Amino acid sequence: MEKGIFIVIEGIDGTGKSSQVKRLGDWFLSQGREVILSREPTNGPWGKKLRESMTAGRLSAEDELQYFLNDRREHVEEVISPSLAAGKVVILDRYYFSTMAYQGARGFDPLEIRRKNEVFAPVPDLLLIMDLNVDVALSRIGARGDTANEFEKRENLVRCREIFLSLRDEKFAEVIDCSGTIDEVAEQIQETVRSRLAE
Ligand code: TYD
Repeated sequence: MEKGIFIVIEGIDGTGKSSQVKRLGDWFLSQGREVILSREPTNGPWGKKLRESMTAGRLSAEDELQYFLNDRREHVEEVISPSLAAGKVVILDRYYFSTMAYQGARGFDPLEIRRKNEVFAPVPDLLLIMDLNVDVALSRIGARGDTANEFEKRENLVRCREIFLSLRDEKFAEVIDCSGTIDEVAEQIQETVRSRLAE
């Protein structure tokens, strides 16, 4: 059986994560791999409450952090770990690095958040940090026809971007410049994945 591969795509809103998750999934499928695409917050009970809070009004900082942890614990148990054990390629749109960034921006210590997560959440084989200037990211959110929600305010995203970039020197991390077209970014990601898998 082939070995499972765990890839996480992270970055602030507007960097194009979800398109790239699909593109990378298609690339692995073309290589004959079994692929699971997933995202956080999930569509489970905790994830649903979190999504509601994004429009209806944010939860308290403590509850919000706890709900993300609860949601992730279920995601790891029900989807991530079993899929990796079955030799599949798992590609996630957001994971605990988003908790470090967004709940970190809300006042918690990012390193403490990381520690809490790594007790139960497996570290990915590859973390792709999708990087883009915040003003460009915000104009893309606008161009998509969405309005910026509570999580997408400018100063908040500036801090989140800094926290994501603080992970750049981790062995498992790679920064992807998202200023180009979808095709250019997809090409950059494939190159990175190919060279990492060859190692
Ligand atoms: P997002 O992927 O943008 O969902 P959608 O495409 O439906 O808008 O995620 C929603 C928000 O959740 C995003 O602004 C970041 C936030 N978030 C956290 O604050 N902490 C976390 O741990 C995760 C996974 C997401």
